[in-house]
Amino acid sequence: MTNKIKIGVAGLGTVGAGVLKIINAHGELLQARTGTRLEVTAVSGRDRNKDRGVPIEGLAWYDNAADMAKDPDVDVVLELIGGSDGVAKDLCVSALTLGKHVVTANKALLAIHGTELAELAEKHGVSLAYEAAVAGGIPIVKALREGLAGNAISRVYGILNGTCNYILTEMEETGGEFDNILQDAQKLGYAEADPSFDVDGVDTAHKLAILTSLAFGTPVDFNSVYIEGIRDVTAADIAAAQEFGYRIKLLGVSRRTDKGIEQRVHPCMVRTDTAIANVSGVFNAVVADGDFVDSTVYVGRGAGEGPTASAVVADIVDIAIGRHSATFGIPVEEMSPLPMASIESHVGCYYVCLTVYDRPGVIADVSAVFRDENISIESLLQRGRSESEAVSVILVTHEAQEASVVRALSKIEKFAHSVATPRMIRIVSL
Ligand SMILES: NC(=O)c1ccc[n+]([C@@H]2O[C@H](COP(=O)([O-])OP(=O)(O)OC[C@H]3O[C@@H](n4cnc5c(N)ncnc54)[C@H](OP(=O)(O)O)[C@@H]3O)[C@@H](O)[C@H]2O)c1
Repeated sequence: MTNKIKIGVAGLGTVGAGVLKIINAHGELLQARTGTRLEVTAVSGRDRNKDRGVPIEGLAWYDNAADMAKDPDVDVVLELIGGSDGVAKDLCVSALTLGKHVVTANKALLAIHGTELAELAEKHGVSLAYEAAVAGGIPIVKALREGLAGNAISRVYGILNGTCNYILTEMEETGGEFDNILQDAQKLGYAEADPSFDVDGVDTAHKLAILTSLAFGTPVDFNSVYIEGIRDVTAADIAAAQEFGYRIKLLGVSRRTDKGIEQRVHPCMVRTDTAIANVSGVFNAVVADGDFVDSTVYVGRGAGEGPTASAVVADIVDIAIGRHSATFGIPVEEMSPLPMASIESHVGCYYVCLTVYDRPGVIADVSAVFRDENISIESLLQRGRSESEAVSVILVTHEAQEASVVRALSKIEKFAHSVATPRMIRIVSL
């Protein structure tokens, strides 16, 4: 007799419809791999009559997705609706409480409620699987949790948002400014009508909070992620980065330091000869550094119907086979809430861009501020020469503490010859 696993799919948008397509296309292959027939028995969406590009006739329909959890004909619930609360959370809580496995692609939900949901899954002896929630088609959850299980992880970082990487790549290739490239990306469907979650770094931060928990065995702590998006990156910054041998990427970085775990999302200057600098367009990449394995790099599509659904189906396969791991690698009661380091304690090199009047003594004044804050300058470049108009002064520092750099920039902003708020981009050595 063939085993059967009955699946309820809540959310029939990009990801949900994609999952149905894979199960339809690869039913036999999946059965051969798992020894189990994967059968979709129930679905839920807002609009029953919408064409999903995939047949749903004959499947039980739920207007209220949370009710699907109670369906005796559903063993595994796929939560593919989205949002950190509301129906997505209600559905997951109710399914886990009823002892049903949950697969989700919802990074917002896991970043905010991940530990609580993991606890619920453990209490009821079921899986809470979420490969699709971080870096879409890249199997990074499996890589960190299973593949690198023999290592202590010192750092995990990556390009976790395809929209931002696409915009930064286009800015570099065309010399265009952020606003124009964003509009083009929206027309091409690479950016949402409301792009704030992506370009302001929140989506990357959700994914980073999950990676941190997996890498360091800490409860998911989204609130301590430092977040800065890409809106303020200018074409001039990108050109200057190129001159110094860098490329600008929005990275999520999680790192063990002697002050605690640093979790930060911000534009980074990375050397052009690094693997991450060469990941362009909508692609994502994650690098995980382990003490025995050294550095490992994973690249692939971080979003879209096929890649995301591929990750969801991989989770269903695990459940069908009976492969089970603690949600974040170790049971919740064994997680240790490590201290989180503040961004002010971050130590690194900085790219700084000042806009000042080119008057005698300006450079000396700037240098004095940096000297007083114990920051040494590696290189300094002045753009243009005009006493009446503002010029750019670009400098790169040696390693310095963030708090000192912030103080220095605030002093410089108060100079009479300062024209605009000084800007800085952190340089990340990889
Ligand atoms: N798209 C990607 O590339 C991607 C990548 C990684 C992770 N994710 C995550 O995957 C999840 C789904 O994303 P998506 O892109 O597939 O979203 P989407 O295309 O907007 O689809 C959302 C689906 O949820 C349904 N829905 C909304 N409210 C509902 C409710 N109250 N009850 C039942 N169904 C409801 C919608 O129904 P209607 O169709 O009837 O309106 C729609 O089918 C999100 O958590 C997202 O962050 C997406």
